[in-house]
Amino acid sequence: MAAIITTTAAPSPWTTPRSSPPPLVFTIPPFPGPDELIPAAKSLSDVYPGSDLPSQSLRWQALSDKFKLIYKRPVSFVTRSPGRVNVIGEHIDYSWFPVLPIAMAQDALVAVAIARDPADDATVEVANVDDQAYDSVSFDLSDFSNPFFQIKHTSHWTAYVLAGIKGALTFSKLCSTDTFKPLPKLRILIDSNVPVYAGLSSSSALVCSTILAVLAATCSHPPLAAVEKSFLVNSAVIAERALGINSGGMDQTASVFGVRDSSVFVDFRPLLSPMPIPVSSDLVFVLANSKVVSKRADIGPSRFNVRVVETTLAAEILAKRWGAVLDIRDGFGGTLRGLYDSVCEREGWQMGTRASEEHAMREIVKRIRTEFWQKTYSLSEICQMLSITPDMLQYKYMTRFPISAQSLNLRDRAIHVLEEAFRVKCFSAMLSDGNRNMSALGSLMNASHNSCATLYECSCPEVDDLVGIARKHGAEGSRITGTGWGGCSVTLVRAEKLHRVMTGLRQDYYKVRGFEPDVIVVRPATGASVASWPGL
Ligand code: GLA
Repeated sequence: MAAIITTTAAPSPWTTPRSSPPPLVFTIPPFPGPDELIPAAKSLSDVYPGSDLPSQSLRWQALSDKFKLIYKRPVSFVTRSPGRVNVIGEHIDYSWFPVLPIAMAQDALVAVAIARDPADDATVEVANVDDQAYDSVSFDLSDFSNPFFQIKHTSHWTAYVLAGIKGALTFSKLCSTDTFKPLPKLRILIDSNVPVYAGLSSSSALVCSTILAVLAATCSHPPLAAVEKSFLVNSAVIAERALGINSGGMDQTASVFGVRDSSVFVDFRPLLSPMPIPVSSDLVFVLANSKVVSKRADIGPSRFNVRVVETTLAAEILAKRWGAVLDIRDGFGGTLRGLYDSVCEREGWQMGTRASEEHAMREIVKRIRTEFWQKTYSLSEICQMLSITPDMLQYKYMTRFPISAQSLNLRDRAIHVLEEAFRVKCFSAMLSDGNRNMSALGSLMNASHNSCATLYECSCPEVDDLVGIARKHGAEGSRITGTGWGGCSVTLVRAEKLHRVMTGLRQDYYKVRGFEPDVIVVRPATGASVASWPGL
């Protein structure tokens, strides 16, 4: 990773009063995005739409009351980051292709106070408002200064909090500034209403909020730290990977750059460039939870990380055969995006229109089919194709993120990625052109799901069932969303058919299986912020 540059906003000696020190700005190459800062929320209405204010003020009041009850002191500030629903573009962000998520209204709140009394323990205390389900944990401050500190219990709920604290300290340490202090004694209370294990990035929401909380708390005058959104995204991506998932950057970008009433078209190359695309109110997205647990810690080694290796190896083998030179993604391996761009350039194809993108995608898919004529390849066959030893294969691709696989499917995974990337471009172009051809949008979602189910094999029978039920009851399109192998479906519905589709899902899925209905309308929400106001 390139060095992290810290820019301290140049204070004007004439206009900056002594009492207000210049803010810290945390910024991180190599993927600097727009130099927007995380907003400071001064009231709940900066965060939530008017219709949510009554319920959110009760929730925030309960958080504040519980904080006082547990820690015998008031909350200093609250950081918040939302979960996300991916509309289209599944499992292509780690191949560096653009995706189209939405930040949800559901979010992870991290309420913080610094214990300044010398008599207080030198600890970081972490509790959850739902103390029946989540036990409180106390960490010694010295744990965090130990460079060999490792998160042992990666499936404990606080693993994401620890990853966030450690990540914040690691990245901020690279910022040379005297206004940044060592980790103080923190009291933290968490309230997240992002459904867990549902493929909605509850983990990224928690990591983003925690990093933001630590950055704000370790600044001399909390919460004055000015954190660049792209710094937060990059730190959160890297911090979360420490828990064993070789993920892309979609979840964190959606959580940080979310915009109310908009989806976010996220491109990762050459820079992180999130672009809001308004979602008009006649496009209704419905989220239905299959209740099949999609737990990252469980699916990482046998599924998720295997897909990352399959797509990486597909890119590298094809690049070797076609003489393409690939950029290395995050110190791991080449990407299909790199391959795609390189082929288009070498062929001299004029890109930038739907027809040219479609031609390039189809031509490259055709070539992939002829290169990989077997469905799967053994590890030794892959070594031969790359001219490397089994030890090298293991070391380069299967050590940092352990995987368990005997053979790999390169062809179908690569075809999914290229075709899905084209669908994202079509869908996003239609949305930004204000094209409300619902059935065309729906068809793209249906095709995305079919590809996830058959080529990428990241769905499961229950989510396939949800998708089929929604389509049967009149949805325009429906697909699995998020990490996969369980979790939720996202469905595009015309407003006038919303009732019919919701009822159909309740009757044919939840009632038949004896589950509590878990189906909601998605409302695109704002991204991460730091909230502080008197009496919080
Ligand atoms: C997980 C990862 C993301 C993305 C999705 C699948 O949520 O964290 O980076 O790969 O799965 O689209």
